[in-house]
Amino acid sequence: MDTKRIGPDEFKKNEELLGEIIRKGGLVAFPTETVYGLGANALMPEAARKIYEAKGRPSDNPLIVHIAGTEALTPLVRDVPANGRLLMDAFWPGPLTLIFFKSALVPQETTGGLDTVAIRMPASPLALSLIQAAKVPIAAPSANLSGRPSPTTAAHVWEDMAGRIEAILDGGETDIGIESTIVDLTGKVPTILRPGFITRDMLEAVVGEVEVDPGIGSEGEAVHPKAPGMKYRHYAPKAPMILVEGDMLAAAAYIVDRLEGLAAEGHHVAVLYTSETQKIYEDAGENLPGTFLWMGSRDAPLSIAHNLYRCLRECDELAVDLILCESMEGQQPLMQSIMNRLKKAAGNHWEQAGGGNETL
Ligand code: TXA
Ligand code: MG
Repeated sequence: MDTKRIGPDEFKKNEELLGEIIRKGGLVAFPTETVYGLGANALMPEAARKIYEAKGRPSDNPLIVHIAGTEALTPLVRDVPANGRLLMDAFWPGPLTLIFFKSALVPQETTGGLDTVAIRMPASPLALSLIQAAKVPIAAPSANLSGRPSPTTAAHVWEDMAGRIEAILDGGETDIGIESTIVDLTGKVPTILRPGFITRDMLEAVVGEVEVDPGIGSEGEAVHPKAPGMKYRHYAPKAPMILVEGDMLAAAAYIVDRLEGLAAEGHHVAVLYTSETQKIYEDAGENLPGTFLWMGSRDAPLSIAHNLYRCLRECDELAVDLILCESMEGQQPLMQSIMNRLKKAAGNHWEQAGGGNETL
């Protein structure tokens, strides 16, 4: 298949065409404020099957349905609980996905066989225009091959999807960089199934008590995550990745210590670091082995969210065989969402600066 790449200034001219491709069952990747989505007609079972095929994704992993206005919600769900209304008013359009009981209109293929459906109204103007042009809700997972880091640029989507889909709409780099927060509204208390830019504090300020699914962060343990997608090793670079825990300065010093030995063993190592630790690596001298990738500043977690997946993809391009990443358990709630993604990328593999290490 010849994949068309359409720039933001060509969108208006192609809007109707792209909408029609989706309506008729084709696949179009598009930007949202979080990550790029791989869009298809959410009401067409065959279109959902094409998404699973293009991504190489297990079909028990349900898709998020994207809408352009709250009026589009009613036909897709059985009812909208009062706390759902409050959350929609506060955070839509935006990086919040809400889970409702689905109506008969939503095919089982879209929801991976579940009786519930995940719905989100994205904030990106290009995404909203595309949904309007399609005249149907758009089912869209992140537009990466299954298991790879989510795409935050059209070039990332191209790497994974060229030849597999009809078109890629290029909207430049996405703003946030990590996927939407997912909140389940089908139980008594709203429950976070995937942390994201909208944090627990922000949700609780609107609806009072909010729970966090105990499955989050418990990789491979007895508790099973409620969002089926959270059980897969996700967001992962090709090389194994180790999170270095501990006090920021100790962690950076530990990484400096490890680099010499790893280089001597012939490893090509990437280090994911932050502004706050930069000086430690600089002070260690020009001959310090390793490739250094800057994630952002701990004082501005959004900068880290924004760069995270690009850094992981760069590790793939550089063909490093090991990634050492500073762990960041910060005070800021967004840090917890970032750490959720980093832990998944590392498959929960970590070392403790200053002792108690799991050795390689
Ligand atoms: O920011 C985002 O949400 C991006 C952009 C494109 O909108 N989309 C995204 O989709 O991250 P995806 O498919 O990569 O992740 C969807 C997650 C999966 O973990 C899936 O298991 C969960 O949402 N999910 C979808 N429907 C669900 C449902 N009915 N119940 C529980 N979890 C659900
Ligand atoms: Mg994904």
